[in-house]
Amino acid sequence: MNAARPAPFLQACHRFATAFTPVWLMRQAGRYMPEYRAMRARHGFLELCKNPEAAAEVTLQPVDRLGVDAAILFADILLVLEPLGVGLEFTRGEGPHIAHPVRNAEDVARLHPMAVDESLPFVFETVRVVRKALADRVPLIGFAGAPFTLASYLIEGGPSREFLRTKRFMRDEPATWHALMSRLGDITTAYVNGQIAAGVQAVQLFDSWVGTLSPADYRDHVLPHSRAVFQRLVPDVPVIHFGTGTAGLLPLMKAAGGDVIGLDWRVEIGSAWECLGPEVAVQGNLDPAVLLASLGEIRRGAKELLDAVGGRPGHIFNLGHGVHQETPVDHVVALVDMVHELSSR
Ligand code: CP3
Repeated sequence: MNAARPAPFLQACHRFATAFTPVWLMRQAGRYMPEYRAMRARHGFLELCKNPEAAAEVTLQPVDRLGVDAAILFADILLVLEPLGVGLEFTRGEGPHIAHPVRNAEDVARLHPMAVDESLPFVFETVRVVRKALADRVPLIGFAGAPFTLASYLIEGGPSREFLRTKRFMRDEPATWHALMSRLGDITTAYVNGQIAAGVQAVQLFDSWVGTLSPADYRDHVLPHSRAVFQRLVPDVPVIHFGTGTAGLLPLMKAAGGDVIGLDWRVEIGSAWECLGPEVAVQGNLDPAVLLASLGEIRRGAKELLDAVGGRPGHIFNLGHGVHQETPVDHVVALVDMVHELSSR
């Protein structure tokens, strides 16, 4: 790959015509892979993220095993929260936990100052190690959490279904909310730009839980902060903007920014793309649960999705969310092969 002929993945992000549909999978590394479980038997999750050689190895595992067209940096959107002094932990089986959640203005004032270069140098080092090991075989995608999704973890203290504390905070303490979102936006901007400086060739901004909001709440409480991130990112690096449950938010997410909009499986890709308009590329959107079914069903699902796209340039094949832990690796390998075969016809 060189500057004159970018990899198909990067071409697709910019809607240049490509001969095939690039595919990478969201959360493509993880506990469904025996190689990953073997690494986790020896290292805690945060310890793995902080060890550039080990994190680079995990980044490369899906590239070697699955044949995907891009590598995704092994890290986590929540790493930026740890230096704020909130007590981030990943408890086995239960996901992330924040020991000191942010519930009021005093909690926000208590957040430690942080500079990403000093607090998260291991992430940037992992990028350099991975780029060297990849030797331009496939591009490397970096990522970060968007301000809303980060704020939701800080305020709820962990995963949530209804985001009631977050929504109350947003309404009852608007000045503190905007101050917190603006701080998180600054951190995300510096974190993503640091990854770009270290060598990532595309980035994805995860606003995973933003679909819990009404369009009006997104517009007033979230959009300005996400937009401020997009506007300050290093130009000419493709940016993917992803959320789940976003059918009612798509035009607003597009207005916030991103060259590519990532869709989950709850929308029909053709009509979602029509709603977004032809200027943006689209990523998605197979239901990750399809990978638990038989190979025949997986092929049917992949074909149906590719038929709905109909060969339009600027489609990146992906799951609508992360790979479930129960997924057989062989099914994932087969899906990647099927997408390449079906889209090259
Ligand atoms: O190849 C890859 O995609 C791996 C890199 C990656 C991870 N997290 C590693 C991880 C990426 C892109 C993420 C993003 C992330 N993290 C998001 C946005 C994407 C999405 O799924 O919506 C979010 C919301 C998080 C926060 C997070 N981290 C949760 C909710 C969990 C627990 C859920 C789970 O799958 O266990 C994590 C932990 C986590 N991050 C794991 C991995 C591989 C599993 C940790 C383990 O080994 O125990």
